[in-house]
Amino acid sequence: MRALTWHGKHDVRVDTVPDPEIINPRDVILEVTSTAICGSDLHLYDAVIPGLLSGDILGHEFMGRVVETGSESPLQKGQRVAVPFTISCGKCFFCEKQQFSACDNSNPAEKQDLTAPLYGHPLGGLFGYSHLTGGYPGGQAEYVRVPYSDVGPIVIPDGLEDDKVLFLSDILPTGWMAAENAQIEQGDTVAVWGCGPVGLFAIQSARLMGAHRVIAIDHYPRRLDLARAQGAEVIDYRQTHVLEALMDMTGGIGPDAVIDAVGMESHGFTPDNMLDTVKQKVGFGADRGHVLREALLAVRKGGRVSMPGVYGGFVDKFPLGALMEKGLQLRTGQTHVQKYSKDLLNRIGEGELDTDFLISHRLPLEDAARGYDNFANNQNDWTKVVLKPGMQAAA
Ligand SMILES: NC(=O)c1ccc[n+]([C@@H]2O[C@H](COP(=O)([O-])OP(=O)(O)OC[C@H]3O[C@@H](n4cnc5c(N)ncnc54)[C@H](O)[C@@H]3O)[C@@H](O)[C@H]2O)c1
Ligand SMILES: [Zn+2]
Ligand SMILES: [Zn+2]
Repeated sequence: MRALTWHGKHDVRVDTVPDPEIINPRDVILEVTSTAICGSDLHLYDAVIPGLLSGDILGHEFMGRVVETGSESPLQKGQRVAVPFTISCGKCFFCEKQQFSACDNSNPAEKQDLTAPLYGHPLGGLFGYSHLTGGYPGGQAEYVRVPYSDVGPIVIPDGLEDDKVLFLSDILPTGWMAAENAQIEQGDTVAVWGCGPVGLFAIQSARLMGAHRVIAIDHYPRRLDLARAQGAEVIDYRQTHVLEALMDMTGGIGPDAVIDAVGMESHGFTPDNMLDTVKQKVGFGADRGHVLREALLAVRKGGRVSMPGVYGGFVDKFPLGALMEKGLQLRTGQTHVQKYSKDLLNRIGEGELDTDFLISHRLPLEDAARGYDNFANNQNDWTKVVLKPGMQAAA
C-alpha cells in the first residue's frame, strides 16, 4: 500500500510499504477514506518530538471503511468509522475512569520504558506518533490496523459525509475538552491563543458552553478571520500588545479563563521566544513556552488555565509565582477522545457544530508531502489539510 512516511526533519515521503494485518482478535483493518494533517504532526515534521524512526508511518486523525475484522471485533465489514487518535484498551484503571489517553495497556511493553525517565510514567498508545507512544503505524495511508476496535472507532451514520465527521478523531474533541478544562461559567470572557484548528474548535466550544465573550489571538489574518466568523473578537499580536489589550478589553480584570492552543512551537520575536528557539534548535528538550507564560500573566486572579497545546519537554522562565499567588487552576492533557465521541457525533448530526469550515485544502494522499510543507510554512492560507487516499493525484 501507499503511506506517508517520516525520514527526518522536514523530510516526509509517500512510499510503498507492506499492508497492515490483523494481529489481535479485537483489531480491524480500515481502508482510509479521509485523513488530516494535525498541528501535532508539525512537531514531528519539525523533529521537536523525539522517538521517530526513519520509515515510520504518520497520521493520527483518520476515518475509513472496515475491510477486515478480528474474531472479537463488534464491527462489520463495510461500516464507516472515525477513529480516536488515542489507542485505549477500555479495561484498565485509567480507561475505566475515562482517562483514555492515559491507557496503561496500549503502549506495548517493550516501549514502556522510553518515557518513564522523562515523565515518571510510560504513556498510552497513539497512532503514528513516535515510539514514545507505542510506535503504531498511522493513518496517513491507504490502510491502517486499528487495535481495540470495540473501544475506539465510532460508527458514522449514512448521510454524514467524511468532512463533517473526520475531526471527531482529534481536533474537535480536543477543542471541546480544552473548553471543558477552562470550566466556563455563563457570562465568562475566555481568551484563546492560536487560531489553528484546535483554537478554532475551542472558540466554537467555549461559546456553546456559555462564554459571553471569546477573544482570539494569532498573527495570520486568514486564521483571525475564521476566528471572527466563529464569534470571537480578535487580537493580532504583531500589531497589539496582548497583555495590555486583554486588560483593556476586560476592564482591568483579565479574562476568566485562558486557553493555550499553540503549544511548544510558539511563533514571535519576543526575547523569551527567541531564547527558547535557540535552545530548542540545539536539542536541549526545551519547549517554546511563550504562550503559556503570557496566558498565566493575562488570566484574572482565581482564573482557569486550559492547555490543549502540546508540550514535550521542559520550560524555564515559568511564572510559577503567578500560578500560585493568583490562585489559578491549570488543566491539560492529550484528549480523552473516546469520552466525547458519541456526544459530539450527535451534535454534528443535529447541526449544532460546524465542523468543515476550516478545511482549506483537500489533496490526494500522493500529495501529502506538499500538504505538510504548506501546512507548516504557509499557515495563513493552509488552515487545515485533508488527504483523500482515493483521490486521483494530479498529473
Ligand atoms: N491535547 C491534545 O490532545 C491535542 C490534540 C491536537 C492538537 N494538539 C496541539 O494543539 C496545538 C495546536 O494545534 P493546531 O492543529 O491548531 O496547530 P497549528 O499549528 O495549525 O496552529 C497553531 C496556531 O498558533 C498560532 N500561534 C503561534 N504562536 C502564537 C503566539 N505567540 N500567540 C498566538 N498565536 C500563536 C499560529 O500562528 C497558528 O495559527 C498544537 O500544539 C498541537 O500539537 C493537542
Ligand atoms: Zn492531533
Ligand atoms: Zn486502558
